[in-house]
Amino acid sequence: MKKSEALYFASCPLRLESVLEKEIQKQGITETKPQKGGVSFEASFEQALKVLVRSRTASRVYKELTRFQVKDEKDLYYQAKDLPWHKIFDPTLKFKISVTQAPSSQKKKHSKFKNTLYLAQVIKDGLVDRFRAESNFRPSVEVKTPDVIFHAHIEPNENIHSSKEWVRLMIDLTGTPLSHRGYRNTEHRAPMRENLAAGILELLDWSPKEDVFIDLMTGSGTFLFEAFFKQRDLSPQVKKLKLLNRNIQKDVWAFQKLPQFEGYESLLKPIVEEEMTKFLSQEKLPPIIGIEIKDRYIKELQDNLEKYKIADSVIIKQADARTFDSFKDQNIQFFCNPPYGERLDKDSDLEKLYVDTAENIKQNYSQAKLAIVTGNFELLKRIRLKESEKYELFSGALPLRLVNYPMY
Ligand SMILES: C[S@@+](CC[C@H](N)C(=O)[O-])C[C@H]1O[C@@H](n2cnc3c(N)ncnc32)[C@H](O)[C@@H]1O
Repeated sequence: MKKSEALYFASCPLRLESVLEKEIQKQGITETKPQKGGVSFEASFEQALKVLVRSRTASRVYKELTRFQVKDEKDLYYQAKDLPWHKIFDPTLKFKISVTQAPSSQKKKHSKFKNTLYLAQVIKDGLVDRFRAESNFRPSVEVKTPDVIFHAHIEPNENIHSSKEWVRLMIDLTGTPLSHRGYRNTEHRAPMRENLAAGILELLDWSPKEDVFIDLMTGSGTFLFEAFFKQRDLSPQVKKLKLLNRNIQKDVWAFQKLPQFEGYESLLKPIVEEEMTKFLSQEKLPPIIGIEIKDRYIKELQDNLEKYKIADSVIIKQADARTFDSFKDQNIQFFCNPPYGERLDKDSDLEKLYVDTAENIKQNYSQAKLAIVTGNFELLKRIRLKESEKYELFSGALPLRLVNYPMY
């Protein structure tokens, strides 16, 4: 690793690790290692900022502070107490500690620690006792809206004769998760998480500069916004970037409050300016279209598109996906995230909705591509179309399946 570089970890929804790895590599970063739920990488701070600004699938970006080995909780307490916390953050900031555990990297050994909440408590005690010993000041914990998040990832050492476990202690650069883009002001009961939607778009056969994108059941429009960002290669963080463009010191990310990142402005400013220029470009590209049956969602979505000033590029139509046939073009990528039957439309005939929608596309669009993502695998099996690719994904703990169907 070069002297100017450090270790970082970007987290993402499960199974999107390789999509995120490509995004990280696009920022000129070569040392990348996918892990469960994210990607570790070696980078300069400027490159890490580019990941924070430009990644569409990352949930958070962390910088590794240190790594050490522990044999038990007492050891964890003393190692945590040993860290120079006063150089890491100002004790007037409210903090939170999160902990994850995993088996050793070759999955030969499982962690002996049982309770991640207790481990977080032990690290917190070490941190607080260190501050108290040095300055008699006790920083306070804030679980819901902390200023600083420390994350410890614990996994057993690979050596089968050792009982020690590795602790990677990281600091979150992000603050509010990157999935909270701020474009969705919604009453919708089943919106897809934004960075998961962005990752799903990467797994379609969609050629964004050539194909029209039509979301047949658009709901709150998550896939329309994310398709717009992908098509134009834009940062999805436009709302935050607009604030930073006016005032580069505006507090939008957690790292801005931390002493080790002082002077970040000169690195962040050109990245923000480049993204804002791209956002204002008027390149003419194939339309992105959203179909939705319920008028209350249409109205809400139209307002959100106008607020975001992308209502010229994204078209909304109230229609029924089972009969929609009014748009004609050679190259269309249809997309559909139908109700699963758990949170929405419990009593309606969902099987017919899945089958009739797929049949409609097959009958009316013989040259198009269709992709369906759903948590209802039984209904997916009723669709009688030839599949080209299938992906197993997760929305939190809920398993999802994405299937690509070329009509030709
Ligand atoms: C699971 S939600 C989609 C959520 C969306 N991906 C989001 O992130 O907000 C399914 C949507 O399909 C819509 N829908 C149900 N039946 C439809 C039909 N026949 N034609 C068009 N839309 C339909 C529902 O009103 C609902 O908004």
